[in-house]
Amino acid sequence: MNQLVEKMNKALEWELRAINMYAHYAANIKGINRLQLSPMFNTEMTESIEHADIVRKAIVQLGGIPVTERDPHPITHTNNYLEMLNYSLETELKAAEIYFELLQCIENDNEEDLRDAIEQIYLSELRSVEEMKLIVG
Ligand SMILES: [Fe+2]
Repeated sequence: MNQLVEKMNKALEWELRAINMYAHYAANIKGINRLQLSPMFNTEMTESIEHADIVRKAIVQLGGIPVTERDPHPITHTNNYLEMLNYSLETELKAAEIYFELLQCIENDNEEDLRDAIEQIYLSELRSVEEMKLIVG
């Protein structure tokens, strides 16, 4: 149980970081790419807020205390849209990895609802990875 809460808090830390990173890039993207990438970064931010909310509430339900600080992995400021996209891909790959590990920890049958919720998030991270790979080109 403790290990599960710990892993879920790691996922929450990365979601909190993703929220900040995508908000930062949505605000800072300039030039013609702003037209498409600012809405895309905003969508990713909203998705991270939703994921964070699900994970946070699940941690409380398990009797744990959700973290309030983001993962310390640096959020790099840049005006270069390709760098923004590569940092986005890095973040989505990390998220997919964390949720995959988390799924391995949820084996107990009476945690079926939790497993379903985490699996949905994992699949959405995988979709983001594939999408981001196509955008990076
Ligand atoms: Fe996420």
